[in-house]
Amino acid sequence: MRTVFQPRLILCRDALAAAEQTAVHVAAALRGHQVLGLATGATMLPLYEALHEQLKDARLAGRGVVGIALDEYVGLAAGHRASFAAYLDRAFMMPLRLDNGQVVIPDGIAADRAGAAARHEAAIAAVGGIDLQLLGIGANGHIGFNEPGSALDSVTRDVTLAPDTRLAQAQAFGSLANVPYQAITAGIATILAARELLMLVTGEAKAVALTAALEGAIGPHCPASALRLHPNAVVICDVAAASLLQDRSLIEEISETC
Ligand code: F6R
Repeated sequence: MRTVFQPRLILCRDALAAAEQTAVHVAAALRGHQVLGLATGATMLPLYEALHEQLKDARLAGRGVVGIALDEYVGLAAGHRASFAAYLDRAFMMPLRLDNGQVVIPDGIAADRAGAAARHEAAIAAVGGIDLQLLGIGANGHIGFNEPGSALDSVTRDVTLAPDTRLAQAQAFGSLANVPYQAITAGIATILAARELLMLVTGEAKAVALTAALEGAIGPHCPASALRLHPNAVVICDVAAASLLQDRSLIEEISETC
């Protein structure tokens, strides 16, 4: 029998407040020399902006690995604007003046994808594991690029993106035809091995997925439901994302800091 936990839920009035609240948590982790698991996507952009503000005076360069990315598309040319490597360079590494090598990203252009996935797992092990894993959620309940159907004991591997995930990325790539079909992602077990999980969820478009993750059955049909298998998980969300939650015990008052 697996143990099921209730993640701590911090409710904020809007997306910006949720991002700022998340940044407080992440900044404290980085100041404490913790290794951060990095997520990308539109939800995370205000968080990275707020993080930059909060860490202006922190010296992170020269410290060794600071962050390990969850995922990367397969087959994009190095430096492709829509790659997660380029995203993290713009949003995280440049503002915080980090050196190359301080952020580890799955190698999406490796000919041997299984090898690239194994190297990613090895990189996580080499830093002693991830302390704080940041997560977003897909409208279909994915975490990282673990699409519905992903095994709860999955590790880093190459995966095929769900059609709705590709559609959600079409704008970033200019058209649907340009969106890669595959990615390398940390697995669900890889994510659950982090010491703490921190999921940021904002906007009405995520309300169904968040409700399924927190109140539905736990299983591969909703990868984000795996959050409830972790003893130390926090969800920071805005009112719009929390709007469909039925379990009022989950929904405390809007937190004072939000
Ligand atoms: C990307 C990742 C994904 C995103 C999710 C939400 O690194 O981990 O799981 O968090 O697709 O993306 P947005 O925020 O763009 O809706």
